[in-house]
Amino acid sequence: MTTSYFATTARGLEEITAQELIKLGATAVKPEFTGVSFEGDRTLLYKVNLWGRTIFRVLQPIHTIKSTNPEQLYRNVRSIDWSEYLQPEQTIALRCTGKNPQLNNSHVTAIQIKNAIVDQQQQKHGVRSNVDTIEPDIVINAHIHENNCILSLDSTGDSLHRRGYRTAMGLAPLKETLAAALLYITEWTPEQALVDPFCGSGTIILEAALMGLNIAPGLYRKKFCFQNWTDYDAKLWGNLLKEAEMSQKEHLPPMIGTDADADIIRQAQSNAKACEIGDQVKFYQQHLVDITPPAESGILICNPPYGKRLSEVEALFPLYKLLGDIFKQRFKGWTAYVLTGNKELSKKVGLRTCARIPINNGGIPCTLLKYEMY
Ligand SMILES: C[S@@+](CC[C@H](N)C(=O)[O-])C[C@H]1O[C@@H](n2cnc3c(N)ncnc32)[C@H](O)[C@@H]1O
Repeated sequence: MTTSYFATTARGLEEITAQELIKLGATAVKPEFTGVSFEGDRTLLYKVNLWGRTIFRVLQPIHTIKSTNPEQLYRNVRSIDWSEYLQPEQTIALRCTGKNPQLNNSHVTAIQIKNAIVDQQQQKHGVRSNVDTIEPDIVINAHIHENNCILSLDSTGDSLHRRGYRTAMGLAPLKETLAAALLYITEWTPEQALVDPFCGSGTIILEAALMGLNIAPGLYRKKFCFQNWTDYDAKLWGNLLKEAEMSQKEHLPPMIGTDADADIIRQAQSNAKACEIGDQVKFYQQHLVDITPPAESGILICNPPYGKRLSEVEALFPLYKLLGDIFKQRFKGWTAYVLTGNKELSKKVGLRTCARIPINNGGIPCTLLKYEMY
């Protein structure tokens, strides 16, 4: 049976997520604001949760109801038969986005919807679902748009960017989903050597290793919300997990992450261990000034620090100049990408960019600068 779904993603990554969904077999794929609508069957829903690298959550819209004001919203939510989706012994969480003039507080709107659901349960069964905001069985997503409320079941639960392998994080880590998107944007292929000289907790290198080894990121997760749905097909899910485990590859080209901070490198190493790919990637402490390419050609991707206050930015001028000098002198034959949130710093690299790609890094407008080194 074909169902409509909506995959949420970061602002600006909608096209990349759409491509990912098409590759996974989705149809009617349509990028929208911070998400992509698509169609597919239950197998596809499970696959997207298991294999999605740039996706946060997959929602299954179940009802669109009129909701101009809180009373109407309550009435209309209560008129839906919730026993189709949720049993009183299951815990529930409500997540609400969007607003209109009468429903302009997401928290209050979420409570209103939750009340309508549990009041119906209480009336029908004499018992009701408890609210659990940490590890709920069923998550209902409500999106207020103009005079309507789109109610969806969240098939994922905790966002997919929390892969489950990154127990340790340095300062300003990239989201795993953004690191994966950067790899798609740079068109890195698993045959190419990859270097990140400011690797922090290792996100870019680890995401690349997962791609290169064809490891499904969902394999690291313990639970998805669709496993609590009334129509959960445990056999189908088991088969998809087995298939994913069987399709892993064994070898990677050189993949190296270095960072000046020894503690952060230990974190990156422990994350690689948690991914069970500790022997496939190398993380070691090294200052940028000592970096050398591990192959004749490859891709270098990094997000160096970019500071917030003027004094912090100015203190980073020499580092960005050094970056440009090193690219030019040591990385001939390579393509380098620098993600930065500061224009002044990007000028200090001192090389001609062949592309400047705008990237939203957790709400901070950044640019991915591309340099071809001949
Ligand atoms: C924005 S963080 C990178 C975060 C990383 N992409 C992640 O996802 O965890 C910048 C990193 O640059 C490192 N760094 C700063 N100066 C450096 C230098 N001169 N050489 C090497 N690494 C440096 C810092 O220790 C920090 O981990």
